[in-house]
Amino acid sequence: MYLSKLPHPENFRFAEAFGPGRFTLDGEHFALRVTEHAGGICRLQVENRRWLRRESQARLTPPRRLARVTSLRYAPRFAFAPEGGPPRLEGEDGGCFGVSEAAWLLRFLPRPATHFFGLGEKWGALEKSGEKTRFYNTDVWADFPIEAIRAARADPLYASIPYLVVERRGVFFGVLLDTSYPAFMALDASFDIHTPRGATPKRYFYVGAEGGRPDVYLLFGPTLAELTQKLQRLVGTTPRPPLWALGHHQSRWGYGSYRDLAALDRKLREHAIPCDGLWLDIDYMDRFKVFTFDRRHFRAPRRELKKLAARGRHVVAIVDPGVKREPGYPVYDAAIMRRYFCETPAGRPFVGFVWPGETHFPDFSRPAVRNWWADHVARFVAHGLDGLWIDMNEPSLGAVEPGSMRFGPRRAPHASYHNQYALGMAMATREGLRRAAPELRPFLISRSASLSMARYAAVWTGDNYSNEAHLAASIPTTLNLALSGIPWNGADVAGFGGDTDDDVMLRWYKAAFLFPFFRNHSATGTRAQEPWAFSRRTLRGVRRYVRLRYRLLPYLYNLFIDQERRGEAILRPLFYDFPSTRALRLERVEDQFMVGPSLLHAPCLSRARPRRRVTLPRGHWFDATHGGFVAGGRRILARDAPETTPLFVRDGSVVPMQSGERESNHNDLFTLELHLFVRRGRVEYAYEADDGISYAYTRGITSGFCLSVDASPRALTLRVTEARARAGACTVSFVLHGPARRLALAGRELALRRHPVTLTGRRLDALKSEPVVIR
Ligand code: GLC
Repeated sequence: MYLSKLPHPENFRFAEAFGPGRFTLDGEHFALRVTEHAGGICRLQVENRRWLRRESQARLTPPRRLARVTSLRYAPRFAFAPEGGPPRLEGEDGGCFGVSEAAWLLRFLPRPATHFFGLGEKWGALEKSGEKTRFYNTDVWADFPIEAIRAARADPLYASIPYLVVERRGVFFGVLLDTSYPAFMALDASFDIHTPRGATPKRYFYVGAEGGRPDVYLLFGPTLAELTQKLQRLVGTTPRPPLWALGHHQSRWGYGSYRDLAALDRKLREHAIPCDGLWLDIDYMDRFKVFTFDRRHFRAPRRELKKLAARGRHVVAIVDPGVKREPGYPVYDAAIMRRYFCETPAGRPFVGFVWPGETHFPDFSRPAVRNWWADHVARFVAHGLDGLWIDMNEPSLGAVEPGSMRFGPRRAPHASYHNQYALGMAMATREGLRRAAPELRPFLISRSASLSMARYAAVWTGDNYSNEAHLAASIPTTLNLALSGIPWNGADVAGFGGDTDDDVMLRWYKAAFLFPFFRNHSATGTRAQEPWAFSRRTLRGVRRYVRLRYRLLPYLYNLFIDQERRGEAILRPLFYDFPSTRALRLERVEDQFMVGPSLLHAPCLSRARPRRRVTLPRGHWFDATHGGFVAGGRRILARDAPETTPLFVRDGSVVPMQSGERESNHNDLFTLELHLFVRRGRVEYAYEADDGISYAYTRGITSGFCLSVDASPRALTLRVTEARARAGACTVSFVLHGPARRLALAGRELALRRHPVTLTGRRLDALKSEPVVIR
C-alpha cells in the first residue's frame, strides 16, 4: 500500500569498453575513480559533464586513503569477491553501471542467503529483503492517505538516508550513496505483477539516484558492530548531548503559553514524575511567524522562561522554516531585501504553504543565509530557551508542487537540495545555539534528515499514530536508523495522531522507556495524553518506568559517550552484539532490542498476546522482573502484566544507576550504585562522568574509573585500575545481583547489607556495599 515506484534497469544503458580509470557508454566518456581507504572502505566516483559538481552537503570524513585503483576489477575485495563473500557487482566492470539521462545505478548480483537492513527511516520489518524503496523526503500526513498512515505502510518518509547494510553468511557490508538527489534501491526485489504458478520471478538488486554525481562508499564490517562504527565515523558521530536531553520530555501540539508550561510543571511535581523538557509547539508564535512570541501567551518571555528554569525545567520550542509573507515583519523584510529565500526559475521568491499561510523558504544551501538564520536563532533563544525543535523541513510546502523551488545563485534544480534542506537548516540552527551559549552543549532535534545529520541534531520519527501497529513499527524503525548513522532518535510516545487508550499508553511507555529519545507528544484535537489523563493504574505504570529511566541515566549517558567516541550504536538489534545462529535467527527478531551491550528488552506490544516469546542469545541473563539468572541460547516465554516488562541483563555486566526512587529530574552522575551482574570470571568496566552540560569535558574535565571484577561463586574481588576526578570524585556503592555474598575492593572487605531492589517486577534481594569514594 502506497509504496515507492522505482526506475527499472532495463530502461538504463550500461557501460561497455572499460579502460583504466574510464569507460564509455554509447560512445560517451566517463571518468571512474576508485579509491581504497583504511579500515576496508572503498569509494567509487564517476565523473561526466552531466554531473558537474558535488551538491551533497553531507560532511563525510573518510579515513586515510590507501590506494587509488583504476578499475572496478581491481577494487577491494567487496567489488568482485568470490562466491561465498560479499555483494558482487553484476557483469564485472561493464555490466554494473547504468545511466539514464542524469539518473544512474549500480547493479549487484542477487545471490541467495543475502539479508538487507538499514535504509535510514523506514517503517515495516527490520529486514528489508525483497523491498523496493525510494529516498525522497515527504511530509507523511500531507502526502499519504490516512489509511496508509494508520497501518504504518507508507514509503518514503521524512528522512532520506540512502545507506544499505548487506549481510551474507555472517559477514556485513555497507553501501552508502553520498547523494542529495532522490535515490532508490531494489533489494532482491521482483517487479512481477503476477507470477505464474511454478515460475520464479526475476530478482533485482541495485542502488542508484535520480541525478547528482555518483559517489558511492562500500564498507566492509566484517561484524555489524564494526560496520556501524565505521559508518558512524564516516558520516559523523553524535556529539555528547546535555544530560537533561536524555531525560523524559512532555510535549503536545497545543502547548503554547507560559500558563500551559507552568501548569505542566505543577502537575509533574504533584504526580512526582521526573521530566526535563517542556515543549512549545506552534501556538507560542505570533500568527505562526518564526522567531516571535505571541504576547498574549508570553507576556514577558525572559522572565517567564526564567521561572521555569528555576524549577529545573528545560524549554524546547518549535521552529519551522517557512517565513510568513508579510511586509513589515522584520524576518521577512530582511530576507527579501537580501534575496535569502529560495527562488523560482524566474528569480522570484518561491511561495509555499505552511502554518502561517503563504510562506517563503530560507535557502539554507547558501552560507550567507545560514549565517543570517544563526543570528536570528541566537537572539531568539537568548529569551531563555534550552533547545530547539526544527520541523516541516522536508521541506513541507502544503499542497504546493515543489519543482520550481530552486537553490543557490544558479537556481539549482529542486531535486538537488530537497533531501538536504533539513541538513542545512540544522547546520544553521545549531550554529545559532552555539553563538547564544558557546560553552553549553546545544540540544536540537529535527523531523527530516539526510546523511551526516547526527553531527547536528537528534531525529524523531515524525507523525505516527496511537495504535499497536505504530508501537510495533517504532522498534525496527529506530533500530534501522541506528544502523544507518542516526543513533539518537525516537518515536512520539504514545502516538501522535488518534486517541491513545490506557493500554497503548502504558505499553508504549514501557516499550520506549529506554529509547535514546523519549518524548510524549500528541496532535491537537486528540484526547489528552499526559500521564495523569489516564487511569490510576496507567499513571502508576508510566511513573514507574519514567523513574526507572532516570535511575538508568548514568548507563544511558555512558552509551552516548561511547557513541561520540567510537560511533557505537545505542539501541541495537540483537545480532549487533551476538552472531545470528540458525537456531535463533536473530536477524528476524524485531520486537526486542539491546540497549547498549548490557540490557535486552523484549516489551509486550499487543493486548492480544498475554504471553510473548523472548529470544535470549547465548550466555546467561539476569531476569530483571523475577530475579536470578536464566540460561540463554534459547527462547523462553514471558507473561504480559501491567506492572512488568521483560528486561534482561547480560551476565558479566556492570550497570551504573542513580540510587533510590527518582521522583524528580534532579540528577547526579557522581553518586552511584554500580550494579554487578557477574556470575563468574573476569570483567573489565569503565565509567565516565562530567558536568553533563558544558564543553569542559573536551578539555579533560571529567571523572571516571576503570574497574576489574573477578567473580568466584562466593565472592567478588574488585580492583580500580585507573581513576580520575577532575570533575569531582565519584561515590560508589556496589550492588550484588549474582550468587556472591562477599565483596572486596583493593584487598579490603566491604560491609554488605541486604538491599531490596525493584527494577521491572517484584522486589529483588540484593546486597549493597557501604559507599566508597573513587578519585
Ligand atoms: C508537525 C509535527 C508535529 C507538530 C505539528 C504542529 O505535524 O510533526 O510534531 O506537533 O507539526 O507543529
